[in-house]
Amino acid sequence: MDNQHKYAVIIFRSTGLDNARHIAFSQQLGEKLEINPFFYGIEKDRLREPFLWDVGNIELDGSLVKKDSRRWHHSLGNALWHTDSSYHQQRSKYSILLSHGNPSKGGSWTHFADTRRAYADLPQEKKDELENLIVEHDLWHSRKLASPQVYGNPLPHELAAKPPAHHRLVQVAPDGRKTLYLAAHAKLILGRSLEDSQKLLWELIEHCTQPKYVFSMEWLSGGDMVWWDNRQSMHRANTYTESMTARDVRRTTIIDDGPLAYGVSLEDKLAAGWVPPEIEGVDDA
Ligand SMILES: [Fe+2]
Repeated sequence: MDNQHKYAVIIFRSTGLDNARHIAFSQQLGEKLEINPFFYGIEKDRLREPFLWDVGNIELDGSLVKKDSRRWHHSLGNALWHTDSSYHQQRSKYSILLSHGNPSKGGSWTHFADTRRAYADLPQEKKDELENLIVEHDLWHSRKLASPQVYGNPLPHELAAKPPAHHRLVQVAPDGRKTLYLAAHAKLILGRSLEDSQKLLWELIEHCTQPKYVFSMEWLSGGDMVWWDNRQSMHRANTYTESMTARDVRRTTIIDDGPLAYGVSLEDKLAAGWVPPEIEGVDDA
């Protein structure tokens, strides 16, 4: 575990793990695994397993994902720098991605940015500005950024499945260093306008993802697996292309059970300028 805390990203080559052992390995690393919120039943899921997120490019019937399908557009968000599950109020700590079968021809990569080193290099003035900020994370924000034509207006059941969450921008990583907790799901800084929030958030994302802070993993063969810590890194996939061959990658996500797992309290949110959403059907007259 010390190495995981230190490096944040650990790669295992040609593991030979199947779904059950992928899940069993993951269950040793935390109290609970996340259930994929897009799991709509065994019959509608290629992997038939609620603890696994199907993040490959293969449809339920085995065909490759078609350009401009809803799955294609959903995947575009994964090519933006992000932290998995930051849009949950109880966030997740680790993700473990396992490849089944050969990687896509022409090179298949996942990129990671070290948000601890990036934070450490910020000028003190900037650190002071960021110290107490609270960020609203919203899955639908990142989907909209990546694919405005499809996710400009998410479907009601999608919105209901995933309301936003609130976390501090500056946090202490498991190794004790300060880190930034942000990325593409980060929509709003409480107390600031959407425009000002996005300007600062993307300025920070660009700072964190300079080549000097980025490590890129190449997927070489089936069974390759990567275990990363979402609390002290950001990551992104390559975008789907029409010439891409099959990429069958499956993810488990381990829920954070540490002291910062639940983000900020309601009192802290209200003090920072959070406005509760209006609840339809409630009439205070
Ligand atoms: Fe991801």
